[in-house]
Amino acid sequence: MYENSFIGHNVEIAVSLLKKGEAVAIPTETVYGLAANALNAKAVAKIFHIKQRPTFDPLIIHLASFDKVYDYVEEVPEPFILLAEKFTPGPITFLLRKKDTIPDLVTAGSPFVAVRIPAHPVTHQLLTKLDFPLAAPSANPFGYISPTTAQHVADQLGNKVYYILDGGACDVGLESTIVGMNDQCNIEVLRKGGLSVEKISAVVGDVIIRDISTSNPEAPGMLSSHYAPSVPIVLGDLAQLTNGANSDRTGILTFRNFIPNISTKHQIVLSPSGNYMDAARNLFAGMRYLDTCPIDVIYAELLPETDLGVAINDRLRRAAFK
Ligand code: TXA
Ligand code: MG
Repeated sequence: MYENSFIGHNVEIAVSLLKKGEAVAIPTETVYGLAANALNAKAVAKIFHIKQRPTFDPLIIHLASFDKVYDYVEEVPEPFILLAEKFTPGPITFLLRKKDTIPDLVTAGSPFVAVRIPAHPVTHQLLTKLDFPLAAPSANPFGYISPTTAQHVADQLGNKVYYILDGGACDVGLESTIVGMNDQCNIEVLRKGGLSVEKISAVVGDVIIRDISTSNPEAPGMLSSHYAPSVPIVLGDLAQLTNGANSDRTGILTFRNFIPNISTKHQIVLSPSGNYMDAARNLFAGMRYLDTCPIDVIYAELLPETDLGVAINDRLRRAAFK
């Protein structure tokens, strides 16, 4: 525990703490991560401790560039090379057969390690100054909404992390899309995220969307209740849900338009112009904001099931799960 955390822009401080085996919060284009030296099991253990994350939930490792991946994995299947050429650095994570250099704690004992090349310039610079990859889950306490600003991290992990490297608000706002390959060499999407399935399919053809069961989650970040704020979220048709609702005690999360007869202070419009990227960028901050309002319930509508609407809806359904 620290008195409090520091939010700053100093990459050298982050470098020095990470080299000493400490955990540091870092910006990425998707969400903020809580990073530590992926090759140092003791440093990685700090991440699990700070997040109160169960050790059966494996971590993604982050590299400066895709060519470095061969130091840590046995092989990269051809379709993943195509995806990496097209989409890295960016919001895509690959599950690849790991080499022994990656501690079992990172992968929760799995022979596969999740690898990502983040596109954020500050974290790119940080990674180029390190001779080890960074293991980094989203920098939220286990089970809560992922942070998309340095302040979100401070609000939740404050005295548990000494330094938060500030890189501004995250550009994408949703966690990366995770892809793996099954025994039949089909590509599977294990988590819908900041890179749409349509874009992936345009490069490698049809993919399998794996709905991982909550009782035996293979990617435990997929636990249904994962993104839950503390005010209950109810999904549905907003006109119906708000019929007769208490105008001051009701929160609204809508895609494009304010809902009449509900206090606008308690409404988040994700994108008035109907832009999916804007909606994704605003989603988690919007959920956090509503969670701080003096309201009893948040009514939210699903977006059209296309583009990033698919991943946004996935997070909304998990947040609404009870
Ligand atoms: O955008 C992102 O991916 C962010 C930023 C910080 O990079 N990271 C992130 O990490 O969302 P995290 O730990 O919150 O979510 C990673 C997900 C978890 O659901 C985890 O179970 C899954 O990836 N995962 C990691 N390694 C895995 C593995 N070896 N096999 C299966 N699933 C894995
Ligand atoms: Mg997470």
